[in-house]
Amino acid sequence: MCRHLAYLGPPVTLESLLVDPPHGLVRQAWAPRHQDVGRINADGFGVGWYDRSRRLEPARYRTTRPMWTDSSFASLAGLAASGAVMASVRAATPPSPVETSSNAPFTSGPWLFSHNGTVNGFHDPSTGLRVKLGRLVSERRAGGIEGCSDSEVLFALVLDRLDEGASLGDALVEVTATVLGLTTGRLNLLLTDGLDVAATAWGSSLFILRDVGLAAGGMVVASEPCDDEPGWEALPDGFLMEGNASNCSSKAMGDADARVTHPGTQTTPTGPVEAAPPLEVVVHLQPGEVESALLADVRAGLGARPRRLSPRWLYDDRGSELFDAITRLPEYYPTRREREILVDHAAEIAALTKADTLVELGSGTSEKTGLLLDALDQAGNLQRFIPLDVSEATLRAAAAGIADTYPALTVRAVVGDFVDHVGRLPVGGRRLVAFLGGTIGNLGPSERASLLADLAGGLAPGDALLLGTDLVKDPARLVAAYDDGAGVTAEFNRNLLHMLNRELGANFVPERFQHLARWNAEQQWIEMRLRSIGTQSVRLPGVEMEIEFLDGEEVLTEISAKFHREGIEAELAVAGLRLAEWWTDTAGDYALSLSLA
Ligand code: SAH
Ligand code: TRP
Repeated sequence: MCRHLAYLGPPVTLESLLVDPPHGLVRQAWAPRHQDVGRINADGFGVGWYDRSRRLEPARYRTTRPMWTDSSFASLAGLAASGAVMASVRAATPPSPVETSSNAPFTSGPWLFSHNGTVNGFHDPSTGLRVKLGRLVSERRAGGIEGCSDSEVLFALVLDRLDEGASLGDALVEVTATVLGLTTGRLNLLLTDGLDVAATAWGSSLFILRDVGLAAGGMVVASEPCDDEPGWEALPDGFLMEGNASNCSSKAMGDADARVTHPGTQTTPTGPVEAAPPLEVVVHLQPGEVESALLADVRAGLGARPRRLSPRWLYDDRGSELFDAITRLPEYYPTRREREILVDHAAEIAALTKADTLVELGSGTSEKTGLLLDALDQAGNLQRFIPLDVSEATLRAAAAGIADTYPALTVRAVVGDFVDHVGRLPVGGRRLVAFLGGTIGNLGPSERASLLADLAGGLAPGDALLLGTDLVKDPARLVAAYDDGAGVTAEFNRNLLHMLNRELGANFVPERFQHLARWNAEQQWIEMRLRSIGTQSVRLPGVEMEIEFLDGEEVLTEISAKFHREGIEAELAVAGLRLAEWWTDTAGDYALSLSLA
């Protein structure tokens, strides 16, 4: 994966554009913040820049050195100035070779082009993709391909479209459609002639900054924000942006070309970046991603001893309904306790954080969230609400309800996984990230550490985290909360088996599995398990597995960790977050903590 950027505007030095910003391209080479594939972009970089008063073709500098080690570039960047720049840092995707000719930006005539991502299967001879795509390139443009990267073939295809008279945006959309006709991939494309620019978000993050800060008098489009100043807008996945130094617009690529369909990315309604619609739903999960994650999890988890499954799968449509019912059970105190703390302290939270943007992770029905939204609104700051959840139907319904209740609020719902996508949340504004419901306790210690670190890494000074955690208490009460008398929690747990029957064609008989909730005193967590009643054989055709369950054999389906203040404070500190406030309900059952970046 790579990071790329284009700038159009008044002349600036390459240093002020690429080197000086705190999270500029040089920094993104070794510490990208929004990259979810690969960690470092050390396989070289490239910069192209224009001086159209001298010639229409850009100058270009490329090398396989990591950007932060190139003192020759650092020296020239202080004097070279331009009003039109494209730059890229590269992480070669194995087995793609590390060679200068594979580094963006690519150029031909007046064009500069960059591709951030990969064409899946391109380097695998058994797919024949290199040959198939190569055949689509005109002889004229095939001659210009120097190296052997997928990106160069994409550029040749783009040039063919431009030669036929396509606009910049149409050329990118048509080539995306061509590739998707043959395979899948991450296809963030970037194209300019020094006057106009077009860019696509297809599988990776993309941000636009207009007329402020780094983009004063012009615009920057970049894989990730180069600083924490306000104004960076995320382009939703599956969108195309087109523009120049003074005007930009964006639209869903599905509208631009009927041949492009991206079932994993639906955004409603579509609209230009500058006029954000009040409700927008962005799907961060790529087509097939959920299915392949399920297959991998079932293979690894159900095949292992002891058998286990990830709790993420509990929340299909039926699971989300059942969870909603759990929150109202007499035994399940956490929801009521958390609500009590919010009623008592929401105004204080609003005053302390002065947040204008509320981000909510694992938002579900967002039922308690209204208390926070009201408090932020009364403090006069509320502008945006960004709920994130894997459960699409529940999220859409909750987001629509909130958009109705708060007409002035911009709601951007993100369908995604908080484990993978916390680094991709929209930036800008003063953000309060709420992670309620004790959901953090459903992660194991190392997963918690990496989630908190990712989260902290994405927060700017002044941003805050509001974390809901259930506290250690009498095991009998804990167990009852996860094994209610009405059997709703048991049904919620067994719903996993219904889901496997539906998604993988499995033949579980859910009634032959008993729901168990057990307190693990050593780990200080509740374990939810399903125990086989009798020996039984289950087929799972979707993963080509057949499992023999012994009588009494158990599958671990979820943990729910319980905490003490010291433990939470220490975990936050390791992630670089400072605990500022700690509130509990009057019974001392549950805690909300507020920490600062
Ligand atoms: N915040 C709500 C809901 C808590 S239930 C409350 O306090 O009542 C947990 C929520 O997290 C569910 O809505 C579930 O769909 C969501 N969830 C579970 N795993 C997730 C993941 N990996 N990424 C994003 N959301 C997830
Ligand atoms: N985050 C909730 C919790 O740990 C989820 C939950 C409640 C849950 N009851 C459950 C998960 C029963 C599995 C089974 O409290």
